[in-house]
Amino acid sequence: MPPADDPLEDPPPAGPLPGEPPPREGLLDEGLLVERLRAAGCVFAEDEAALLLEAAADPGELAELLDRRVGGLPLEQVLGWAGFCGLRVPLRPGVFVPRRRTELLAREAVALSAPGSTAVELCCGSGAVSLILLAARPDLDLVATELEPAAVACAVENLRGRAVVLAGDLYEPLPARLRARVDVLVANAPYVPTPAIALMPTEARDHEPAVALDGGPDGLDVLRRVVAGAPDWLAPSGALLVECGEAQLDALGAAVVAVGLRPEVRRDEELAATVVVARR
Ligand SMILES: C[S@@+](CC[C@H](N)C(=O)[O-])C[C@H]1O[C@@H](n2cnc3c(N)ncnc32)[C@H](O)[C@@H]1O
Repeated sequence: MPPADDPLEDPPPAGPLPGEPPPREGLLDEGLLVERLRAAGCVFAEDEAALLLEAAADPGELAELLDRRVGGLPLEQVLGWAGFCGLRVPLRPGVFVPRRRTELLAREAVALSAPGSTAVELCCGSGAVSLILLAARPDLDLVATELEPAAVACAVENLRGRAVVLAGDLYEPLPARLRARVDVLVANAPYVPTPAIALMPTEARDHEPAVALDGGPDGLDVLRRVVAGAPDWLAPSGALLVECGEAQLDALGAAVVAVGLRPEVRRDEELAATVVVARR
């Protein structure tokens, strides 16, 4: 056995052996980070690498964040926040990640609210839409409801001191004082048709709860209940705003008309977003 400094000894390999993970201290190298993210199928590997580097306090934490991401967790759940209308919305594991397309719903809800309006958000998830409403109109009287316990906890934390968050099914937890008083009633409810869930990216299928996605056979089970309950809660000039898929417009429009409301459609093609606004 030659001594450790024997010049005849083979030099140590320059990098990790093929198939071997890079050494943990090496992960601070952004290039390696990008390589591992790309190998795991992350399309925006450069952007993700920059965000992971920003989020980690030290190489050990960076390695943990990277492991979670390459293991398939949505980037937003790894980081603990999601970008939404220019805000960073804090997120917890297992809570639906607010989508860019829902920015249209939030913008339309802001446009229909006025200082001091009474607003309700159903199916609030992390509370992203409520946060945007409150950022524009801090004096809203806002109540949000949500069914799934992890999302309720996340929304309570995100909206603490600014809105009331109530756990339960759609309108069921709302206080009677809001009947016929709601100016803006907004909901991004689950609307994915059950057969389409299998076609969603694994990040959604495996890391977001089914109750946040599954809208039943045609995707409209929950939205029909949202529409059916709206006339009881809307103020005379109030508006219901819901997000849906373009292919669901006819059926959803018919449900809106059936309860005596008048539907209008708002679109943002860049966001691939469709919103139905319903009024008396
Ligand atoms: C598509 S996610 C949207 C979450 C949030 N509004 C957003 O845009 O980020 C739908 C949310 O509705 C909640 N949900 C599903 N069914 C519900 C019900 N019957 N009552 C209240 N919340 C419900 C889910 O737990 C999930 O958080």
